[in-house]
Amino acid sequence: MDSSGLSRRGFFHRMAVGAVIMGAVRAEAPGAQNTPAPSGPFTLPPLSYAYDALEPFIDAKTMEIHHDKHHQAYVTNLNKAIAAHPELGGQSVEALVKNLATVPEDIRTAVRNNGGGHANHSLFWTTLGKNNGASPAGDLGKALHQKFGDYAAFQTQFTKAALGVFGSGWAWLSLDANKQLLIEPTPNQDSVLTAGHHPLVGIDVWEHAYYLKYQNKRADYIAAFYSVINWDAANERYRAALG
Ligand SMILES: [Fe+2]
Repeated sequence: MDSSGLSRRGFFHRMAVGAVIMGAVRAEAPGAQNTPAPSGPFTLPPLSYAYDALEPFIDAKTMEIHHDKHHQAYVTNLNKAIAAHPELGGQSVEALVKNLATVPEDIRTAVRNNGGGHANHSLFWTTLGKNNGASPAGDLGKALHQKFGDYAAFQTQFTKAALGVFGSGWAWLSLDANKQLLIEPTPNQDSVLTAGHHPLVGIDVWEHAYYLKYQNKRADYIAAFYSVINWDAANERYRAALG
């Protein structure tokens, strides 16, 4: 072997040793061991309030498990599904669910369930907030009164829809394609976005949303829900949906 070969071998040996040392340094950097690798394009949105912010209507432990475990599971499973079609990762979850028919068939059901779960819960957190008994105001308040008569009549119909969900699902106050308010249920994690509707307020009636505090008494949970609808946020969503 000529001297240049030895020289090259020595160079590569030094590079390899250096890489091992650098790897060791990186592994030992403060906090490096606890930094999780990005698992996909979708992430769990943080709550903008404390777990106990909705007490006593929705308890802190339910909020913690619901957000940190259940919602996170939808995000994780959506990322797993999307990994087979990374070109879809640039879309918002709302766009994915809205255009579900164009999602590749091999992951369509996974996106329906987990993308729907991610979209539904993301909206759910942002439309919750103690309202101190306030009823809908602003443009949404006017439209709601025109559509349903008064707030009590709306509550009667919304409660009936939420109670009527067989098994797991949601009840929604939505805006349809003609910009008309409607109350509609969806099973499982189906989103009203798939039907071309705009969700304004949704109540999660999966048992994981209320069982710790209310056990089998879904009606009590629904009654309490009216105290934690953030109507200002719903009104903003309504105005945005009207364009
Ligand atoms: Fe949920």
